[in-house]
Amino acid sequence: MTEIAGRVAVVTGGGSGIGRGLALELAAQGAAVGIADIIYENAVAVAKEIERAGGKAFAVQCDVIERDAVKRMRDEVTAALGPVSLMFANAGATSFEKITDMTEKDVDWIIHVNMMGVTNCILAFYPDMVKARGGHIFATASTAGLMPHWIPYHAPYSGAKLGIIGLMLNLQLEAAQYGVGATVLCPGGVIGNMKAKNMSYRPARFGGPTDEEVKIPAEFVDHNKLVFRPADEVARLCLKAVRANRPMVITDGKMREIFVRTYQNLVHEAFDFVDAFDAEEASAG
Ligand SMILES: NC(=O)c1ccc[n+]([C@@H]2O[C@H](COP(=O)([O-])OP(=O)(O)OC[C@H]3O[C@@H](n4cnc5c(N)ncnc54)[C@H](O)[C@@H]3O)[C@@H](O)[C@H]2O)c1
Repeated sequence: MTEIAGRVAVVTGGGSGIGRGLALELAAQGAAVGIADIIYENAVAVAKEIERAGGKAFAVQCDVIERDAVKRMRDEVTAALGPVSLMFANAGATSFEKITDMTEKDVDWIIHVNMMGVTNCILAFYPDMVKARGGHIFATASTAGLMPHWIPYHAPYSGAKLGIIGLMLNLQLEAAQYGVGATVLCPGGVIGNMKAKNMSYRPARFGGPTDEEVKIPAEFVDHNKLVFRPADEVARLCLKAVRANRPMVITDGKMREIFVRTYQNLVHEAFDFVDAFDAEEASAG
């Protein structure tokens, strides 16, 4: 059972959407919360909300793509609130474009903010948890990582989110021996600000911010009857999973059938294909 009350937590991307929901719920359950975000004003606004409700919070500007910035953020939160034992590596950004329509910098940004953002958080926070023999690493992936061939024009994002799932499921194997937990979140649809604000998160070295909207294909949302859950509900689900040290959280129970259909067909066909190949080889040889 991972305790939340009395612990120090950090949430990256804590200024908006799922991260904001996690930060508010962590504070409501008695944790002191470091809110790290590339957009400092949003982190400050969430810290103020927590303080107004009687909780303890600290806002910090941090681009999770920059390893040294993540380490500085850890040091600042530790100085303000104490040693961190709950790390929520949640910051991310998306793309819905053909890879041939993306610049190399855009592809790099999506891979780095998602995959390296989580990696940098693990490298900065996990070793101290191992030394302390306790704590929890939580990372936000996506259903697009769990079923990477599900949505078209989503290649770098799906790849990076699948990478996060692999990183987290494997980390659990080694973390358990130190009493450190690990949970990966694969949201389906959650109410957040990514559609409108995504491009405003792009750091200067990847092309800088713009005010373009993300163009999610309408037929994808309609066809899959995607339901967008409120972030506060998702946060309660996530913290329940952290307390119980569940390996994975999914936000939409109705997606079970889509998952079974799309993923199992792919895997069965791949096994059938190698079986057929082996049979041909055996009959030829
Ligand atoms: N909302 C969904 O339906 C959904 C579905 C699947 C996955 N996700 C994932 O959930 C996470 C949160 O998304 P959301 O829907 O709450 O989006 P959001 O746009 O509401 O919030 C994202 C937050 O991340 C911050 N951020 C972006 N780049 C950053 C960086 N380099 N360093 C630090 N902070 C940065 C933004 O400033 C923002 O506060 C993301 O990892 C996203 O990929 C969301």
